[in-house]
Amino acid sequence: MKKRIAVLPGDGIGKEVTRGAVEILRAVGERFGHQFSYSYGQIGGGSVDELGTPLPDETIELCKGSDAVLLGAVGGPKWDRLPVHLRPEKGLLKIRKELGLYANLRPTLYYSSLADSSPLKREVIEEVDLLMVRELTGGLYFGKPSERMKQDGRDVVVDTLFYQKSEMTRVIKLAFELAKNRKSRVTSVDKANVLESSRLWREVAEEVAKDYPEVIVEHMLVDNAAMQMVRNPKQFDVVVTENMFGDILSDEASVLTGSLGMLPSASISESGPYLYEPIHGSAPDIEGQNIANPLATILSVAMMLRLSFGLEEEAKAVEAAVNEVLKSGFRTKDIASVGTKLVTTTKMVEEVKATI
Ligand code: NAI
Ligand code: MG
Repeated sequence: MKKRIAVLPGDGIGKEVTRGAVEILRAVGERFGHQFSYSYGQIGGGSVDELGTPLPDETIELCKGSDAVLLGAVGGPKWDRLPVHLRPEKGLLKIRKELGLYANLRPTLYYSSLADSSPLKREVIEEVDLLMVRELTGGLYFGKPSERMKQDGRDVVVDTLFYQKSEMTRVIKLAFELAKNRKSRVTSVDKANVLESSRLWREVAEEVAKDYPEVIVEHMLVDNAAMQMVRNPKQFDVVVTENMFGDILSDEASVLTGSLGMLPSASISESGPYLYEPIHGSAPDIEGQNIANPLATILSVAMMLRLSFGLEEEAKAVEAAVNEVLKSGFRTKDIASVGTKLVTTTKMVEEVKATI
C-alpha cells in the first residue's frame, strides 16, 4: 500500500516525538511491505519566527494533498506575548478548520503496568476503556460575535455558542458508528437543563439513536459527567459532546490512566485527510533533553494506520509493541516508578521498533 503522510513536527518536544513516530511508521512499512512517504510542513512558533505566520499556505496545501497528517505540538513561552493572530495555537485552530476536522477522538485505555502513575485508585481505573468524541469546529470557540463592547456605558463581553443542527448530527452519528465496534454504549453529554443548544443536542442524539437500536444511549448533564468521570469511569464506553464540554472532559479523562505522554488522538473529517497528534503540548520544560515520552505519538500513528489506512493488523502490531515494551519495564521519566528501567526518548523508540 502506498500512502503520503504530511508530518508537522511543530515546536518543543513536538519535534522529538514526531521523529520517533516516523521511525515507527518506517518499521511498520518495512515489516508489512507498505510504501509510506513523508513530507514535512511548518506550523506553530517556529513557523512564526521563520515565515511570519503560524500556518503558511504551503502547509495547508501539503496536508490537503496527503492521505494523513501527523502533528507534534505547538507553542511555548517564547511566543506567549505575540498578538492573537500570530499565536502558535492559531495555527492549530486554522488547520482544523481548513481540513474540516469536525471530531476529535481520544481513547483512554487502562495499562495495568502503569496503574501506579494514575492519581486514582487502581480499583477505580482498572479496565477503563473509554473513547471521548469531541465536536471540534463549532460551538463557543468559533461563534460570532466574540468581543468586548459597551452597552449603556458599561463594559460587556459576548461569546457565541453557535451550531448548525447538521454539525451536531454528524458528530453524534460518528459516535454511534464507533460504539458499534466497541461496547455499544453512547453517553451524550449536554447541559439541557439550561442551554437551548444542549436541548437541540439531546433531541438530535435521540433522533440518531433511532438508527442504532443495538446501541444503548444515555444522556448526562456535563457537571454530573465531570464527577462520574473520576468517580466511576468504567461506566463509560463512547462519550460524545460539544466543543467546550469536550475540551474540558477529555483533559479530565486523560489523567485517569496515567501520563499525558501516553495519550493519542485522531481528528476526523468528512472527506480529506485525518489528523493525528498526541494530546500533550510542546512541553518547553523538558524540550531538547531527550526525555519526552514518545508513546502518545506512536499510539497516534497506530490510530492513523487503523482509521486512515484501514490497516488493522499493523495498528495492533504497534499497540502490542507498546504494551510489550511497557511490560518489559522500559519507562521514560514521566511514567517511571521504582523497579523500572529509565530510558530516553530515542531508546524507547528503538525498543518499540525492535519489538515490531
Ligand atoms: P504540556 O502538555 O506541554 O506539558 C504539561 C506537563 O506535562 C509538562 O510538565 C510536560 O513536561 C509534561 N509532558 C507533556 N508531554 C509529555 C511527554 N510526551 N513526555 C513527558 N512529559 C510530558 O502543556 P503545557 O505545559 O500547559 O503547555 C506547554 C505549551 O504547549 C504551551 O505553549 C501550550 O500552549 C502548548 N500546548 C500545545 C498543544 C498542542 O499543540 N496541541 C496542547 C497543549 C498545550
Ligand atoms: Mg484543551
